[in-house]
Amino acid sequence: MVVPAIEVFAPDELAAAAAARLSDEIVARGRSRIALAGGNTPRPIYEALAQSSRIDWSAVHLFWGDERCVPPDHASSNYRMVRETLIERLKGPIHIHRIAGELPPSDAAAAYARALGDEPLDIVLLGMGDDGHTASLFPSMADLGATGPAVIRGTAPSEPRERVTLSLATINRARLVVFVIAGAAKAPRVREVLDQIQNDAPVLPSAKVQPVSGRLLWLLDTSAAAELNPRRDRKHG
Ligand code: 6PG
Repeated sequence: MVVPAIEVFAPDELAAAAAARLSDEIVARGRSRIALAGGNTPRPIYEALAQSSRIDWSAVHLFWGDERCVPPDHASSNYRMVRETLIERLKGPIHIHRIAGELPPSDAAAAYARALGDEPLDIVLLGMGDDGHTASLFPSMADLGATGPAVIRGTAPSEPRERVTLSLATINRARLVVFVIAGAAKAPRVREVLDQIQNDAPVLPSAKVQPVSGRLLWLLDTSAAAELNPRRDRKHG
């Protein structure tokens, strides 16, 4: 199993630290294909990334890890969240490959798979729900796409239920997978997911994120890391 490198930061430092790490990785790569996470945790990260003067955004191709099946201007749209926190704040051109949430889910998934192509993503940024889901790969889903299509449909336990998401296989082909997890509510699940990885018994979707040849990095705040053991869990920071 791939055990994540874990770095822990004070709650008010996590977003800046994550943005700095992502900037380092993007600058080091030059041309980068990046899949961004949805939800709320990444918002300040994207706002900080928009301030970075180091990144040549014209060499960046933005993808999404998942999307809710809603129009791009819907309040629940992950595309809208990234547009507001990052895209609208950038001056130069950037390549956007959004998931068309306004289309029927199967059509959106097929179109996104075509846009994604066969090349592995350079970076996949993920969050984790307090149920251990990541992207729109939920514990209730029988098939997380460990094999097969690059993009699959997901079903969330709460609205908006219809989702389109990178498959587990696509996430695991990435060169770098970064989880950013914050808040005390996530601490028990962070412990459980890490236990599943350390015991080679992955059950929860977040535990099944196991890069085939890439790196796995968890950036946590101290609240989300509260149940980790600094020595046993190779916690840095
Ligand atoms: C989504 C995300 C999802 C998110 C987690 C954590 O579409 O909601 O892709 O996987 O990362 O639910 O969300 P928070 O960051 O809001 O806790």
